[in-house]
Amino acid sequence: MNNPDVKLLDMYKKERFPRSSEYDLDWVFKNEMGPNVLWLTELLCESMDLKSGMRVLDLGCGTGMSSIFLAREFGVEVWAADLWIKPTDNYNRIKEAGLDGRIHPIHLEAHSIPFAEEYFDAIVSLDSYHYYGTDVHYLEFHLLKHLKHGGQLGIVSPASPTELPDPLPSYMPEDFYFMNSLEWWSKHWSRMPGFTVELAEMLPGGFELWLEWTELLEAYGNANRPQDVETELPLLRTDQGRYIGFVRMVGRRT
Ligand SMILES: C[S@@+](CC[C@H](N)C(=O)[O-])C[C@H]1O[C@@H](n2cnc3c(N)ncnc32)[C@H](O)[C@@H]1O
Repeated sequence: MNNPDVKLLDMYKKERFPRSSEYDLDWVFKNEMGPNVLWLTELLCESMDLKSGMRVLDLGCGTGMSSIFLAREFGVEVWAADLWIKPTDNYNRIKEAGLDGRIHPIHLEAHSIPFAEEYFDAIVSLDSYHYYGTDVHYLEFHLLKHLKHGGQLGIVSPASPTELPDPLPSYMPEDFYFMNSLEWWSKHWSRMPGFTVELAEMLPGGFELWLEWTELLEAYGNANRPQDVETELPLLRTDQGRYIGFVRMVGRRT
């Protein structure tokens, strides 16, 4: 390994992430679709009761890195479900990880989940729920029925500590209009009957992780998403966490 690789590894391996730090950095760079999903998954799992053998739906799993992490670290059986990424591509990654039979890749749209009611012990969504889960009817009509009573739903999604100003700050791209505040997310879930919100908070250190990951990508040579890195780095450096971060939310179906 040459010097730049050592520097990247120093930036990547963190005491806070004993599990994620064991994963191959080139593999993560190759498959990443946003701020390191292994970090986000490891932090979400701190607040969830995952036990070996549970059935877990990983909704909006992208390239399935979180699914691989969940199956490997917690011994759960995972349905790796996504809209944009082909299940065959995820299946190849699953086989390469030696997890064939323990992770099931599937193409789905989050408003028509093709599983039985009360099928899953837990549902997770990493950096994805904000694309489809903001409608007031989403939990009621589309998602919660697939979770067992007593099962947890956990998400980490981009969000702002406070309501975004209108108009948006001049340094912020227009497409950041989608960011809701922690208070918004908390209310959004709290109004759902038969569902108890156990945790609703800004992910501790979430903004810093987003920035650090984007800086790592830049140091690596912007492998996957050069455009995102180019726009996000100045945005994050200017914002400094004022409006940008993640919510970490966990709720239980009662
Ligand atoms: C930013 S990517 C994150 C992927 C992955 N969770 C990660 O963090 O690496 C967002 C993912 O949400 C998925 N997604 C967006 N809208 C969706 C929908 N309506 N139904 C299912 N998945 C959706 C996309 O397919 C995409 O893979």
